[in-house]
Amino acid sequence: MNPTERLLRACRGEPVDRPPVWLMRQAGRYLPEYRAVRGEVSFLELCADVDRAVEVSLQPLRLVGTEAVILFSDIFVPIPGMGVEVDFAPGPVIAEPLRSLPQIEALRVPDTRETVPHVFEILRTLRRALEDEAVPLLGFSGAPFTLAAYLVEGGGSKDFATLKRMMYRAPELLRALQARLTDLVVDYLNAQIEAGAQVVQLFDTWAGLLSPLDYVEWVLPVHREIAAKVDRERAPLVLYVGNGAHVFDAMLESGVDVLSLDWRADMAEAARRAGDRVSLQGNLDPCALAAPVHEITARVHAIAEAAAPARGHILNLGHGVLPETPVEGVRAFTEAARAVVRRRP
Ligand code: CP3
Repeated sequence: MNPTERLLRACRGEPVDRPPVWLMRQAGRYLPEYRAVRGEVSFLELCADVDRAVEVSLQPLRLVGTEAVILFSDIFVPIPGMGVEVDFAPGPVIAEPLRSLPQIEALRVPDTRETVPHVFEILRTLRRALEDEAVPLLGFSGAPFTLAAYLVEGGGSKDFATLKRMMYRAPELLRALQARLTDLVVDYLNAQIEAGAQVVQLFDTWAGLLSPLDYVEWVLPVHREIAAKVDRERAPLVLYVGNGAHVFDAMLESGVDVLSLDWRADMAEAARRAGDRVSLQGNLDPCALAAPVHEITARVHAIAEAAAPARGHILNLGHGVLPETPVEGVRAFTEAARAVVRRRP
């Protein structure tokens, strides 16, 4: 079974020999080879430089043994095309946070093929480079709620209180903002699929800040709309919700192909509840990659065992690789994953 077949079959819940493995944020500062390239240009320049972005996208394949490549970019790359100024320091910083209706109504929903053509050039180049080894290519987008969180707050935050205040005091503003972002995200993901992405992942890092009730009101309908409009015949859709164990049952209603679990979620419980409705991805704590090799190996096998009742499982972390992560820990993770034998009870 080649790596593309393994990943696509795992996403769709078809039999595989073992779970495929990749890592969220697998290209990044934990790799000296990434830091070398990044030393020459700013992060935003790197995202727009086709040759360098292709190079860093491919680095994890050879250096740490992952079995899929994810487009090197950021969830904020398509946002300046809407008319919003974004900088990185190192997280996204919004020069003029969106707090009023005129600001939100002034947002454009651009054709990303025109505003960020380099993203699709990177995907097409990667797809050609991966063809011979049949390594699958993933595309991604931020989800509307998480994008809105930064756009309203102005940058990262522990509790995104400004965003939540807008949700409760001016719901029509957040609704208008999410509607525009949803149109952007649907078109952006479909354009990535046209450019060669074989799986696409939606990152909703901050949606887990909501109560189950607010999640169902504010986030679930958006995920359902995206799942309905993305061309999932051509590319399965993965949904990651950060800190989302308490909304897992609602996530099951989203209609996506794969749910990517935060490390706080109990994989065994999720596998029981998921039944044959979705495949699961995850969910080692990224900090656990600092553990001795035998510990990492034991945890990978425990997660695979816990996920066995699910219709499909993709080994991954419960969030992105952290900059301080030892490279040996990441290698130990992918090596342990390759030794797993897929067994359904
Ligand atoms: O998975 C991959 O390897 C693909 C690349 C990727 C990046 N960002 C590169 C990046 C992906 C999928 C993302 C998604 C992203 N970006 C998310 C959702 C996933 C998550 O981690 O929760 C979010 C919330 C962002 C916003 C963002 N971008 C933050 C908060 C930061 C700063 C924190 C950090 O890790 O540095 C970034 C910058 C960023 N995005 C870097 C990279 C490699 C570091 C930039 C640098 O080299 O200085």
